[in-house]
Amino acid sequence: MRSIVEQLSQRVRTAMAQVGVEGDPLIRASQDEKFGDYQSNCAMGLAKKLGRKPRDLATAIVENLNIDDICDPPEIAGPGFINLRLKPEFLARSLETIPPCLDADVDRVGIEPAANPQTIAIDLSSPNLAKEMHVGHLRSTVIGDCIARILEFEGHTVLRENHVGDWGTQFGMLLAHLRSVRPDVLDKPDDLVIEDLESFYVEAKTRFDADEEFKRRSRETVVALQSGDPVTRRLWQAFCRESLRHCHAIYDRLDVKIVDRGESCYMEQMDEVVGRLEAMMKERTDDFIRISEGALCLFPEGFKTRDGEPLPLIARKTDGGYNYVTSDIATLLDRTQRLGATRIIYVVGLAQKQHFDMLFAAMRRAGWIDETVSPVHLGFGNMLGSTGKPFKTREGGTIKLKDLLDEAVARARQVVVNAATDGTKPGRTFSEKQVDEIAERVGLAAIKYFDLSHSLNSDYRFDLDTMLSLEGNTAPYMLYAYARIRSIGRKAGVDLAALPDKPPILPEHPSEIALAKKLLQFAEVLDTAGGELRPNALTDYLFDLAKSFSRFYDRKLGVRVIDASPESVRLSRLRLCDLTARVLRCGLRLLGIETVEQM
Ligand code: ARG
Repeated sequence: MRSIVEQLSQRVRTAMAQVGVEGDPLIRASQDEKFGDYQSNCAMGLAKKLGRKPRDLATAIVENLNIDDICDPPEIAGPGFINLRLKPEFLARSLETIPPCLDADVDRVGIEPAANPQTIAIDLSSPNLAKEMHVGHLRSTVIGDCIARILEFEGHTVLRENHVGDWGTQFGMLLAHLRSVRPDVLDKPDDLVIEDLESFYVEAKTRFDADEEFKRRSRETVVALQSGDPVTRRLWQAFCRESLRHCHAIYDRLDVKIVDRGESCYMEQMDEVVGRLEAMMKERTDDFIRISEGALCLFPEGFKTRDGEPLPLIARKTDGGYNYVTSDIATLLDRTQRLGATRIIYVVGLAQKQHFDMLFAAMRRAGWIDETVSPVHLGFGNMLGSTGKPFKTREGGTIKLKDLLDEAVARARQVVVNAATDGTKPGRTFSEKQVDEIAERVGLAAIKYFDLSHSLNSDYRFDLDTMLSLEGNTAPYMLYAYARIRSIGRKAGVDLAALPDKPPILPEHPSEIALAKKLLQFAEVLDTAGGELRPNALTDYLFDLAKSFSRFYDRKLGVRVIDASPESVRLSRLRLCDLTARVLRCGLRLLGIETVEQM
């Protein structure tokens, strides 16, 4: 099934062609029911260009619009909006085309994959391995995973790249420390376990700051590492493997799939990049690339220092060493040339906006990426503590991501236990093991959903009470909405997933019609969420869908379902229940959230 927006666009475009105009039909879901379900806003802009009256143009388009199998007769409103209202028969017919769910794990709810699949690399999570993952890594991991899931669902080939920081001067200190406190590592690198990476880092750093001799050894270790000394490399590998084990414990828990391809994978390519840049410097006569204060610098257009001087990207430092940007140049070349990605999405905090803007501009100016490649920085704001200040422990230290997840799960457990014992869910008994499982799912879902429901550009406050609330736009509300629908099937004595596809769906009551329309918006919402890289388009939609369902199922505002008669009506309504549950499950899964059957 194609989205309603697409179907309407096609009809309006044909009518536009008949009156001799061309352009985007600008179909949008209406904000207010008064204006129908969708509007086409194309007449205003086009009329202005053509020097015609917008209402006249809208009238001409409507006269040529062949749409009565989909909509009631279109209305023209205000300066020239074309308002479109979907017919219940069209809604019913469209819902009927959604094939039954044969396998819940891969249910697409009738959504077709993209016509032009691309290879898309997503740079997500990417912590520095010197330390434990902390709260600051949550957003990149969760947002990146959601975007990856949506684009993969759309049919693209998605490469999930964990560009970990596994290279750089801080490893000198860590490896020198490792060698002195764990001398056995060299014999048995696979046996290395560091329970607390964070305190290991602190120990090494304290020593580095206090002990000149250790400082000297740390510096030597960096040189040895970079020049490929086998013993230092063994230590380094053991350390990185152990650090990655910590990361993957979190990824597994969060159900995030990711491929580790850290900065160190690009060591050799960096030499090559710098060599090519030097050759380019000799050939080019413009000011793009030159030596400045001994450093090899690139000057992408349009970036200035505070004093108005051109701002450089330093590809090779004065001391001959490479930079973060050197590895990012090598990485971008690898992703486009070897991995064949045509879209590269960097899910990295907004603090690095300038770095990426300059990187992309420089790569274009160098001619190393062309118009077939589109790199984007998908930046995001900070997650703040509940008081609105940066998220820190009471002592001012960073909070480990693992501790944050544990806390959310512990609090979710209370919510689950309370709900099961407060008398509102009589007869509900869960074993301890079930409670643990539900709490783990609900707690992690709450964190993810809360994060994804905020617009990427703004900061938000981490607030367990809000995110675990059973009311409002939260994971517990959504999971509960799903579980409740599934329980309707049990109460009605039917398997919702195996309802007969006859008699047909017949939306009649306003609450049924509203629910049917919402269900059919799923396709266009995915287009928006994937096209604009906006997870909160999906959370907003799912919340609206859950509310539409509540209204439909409400004793006063909606319709009877389990005890509806005749049987054809009961079956039609049960099928709406099933479709709602399927869309919720599919949508939540794209957010990285697995539903629970009972809660
Ligand atoms: N490791 C970096 C950091 O912690 C993030 C890397 C983002 N990805 C990239 N290709 N630069 O800041």
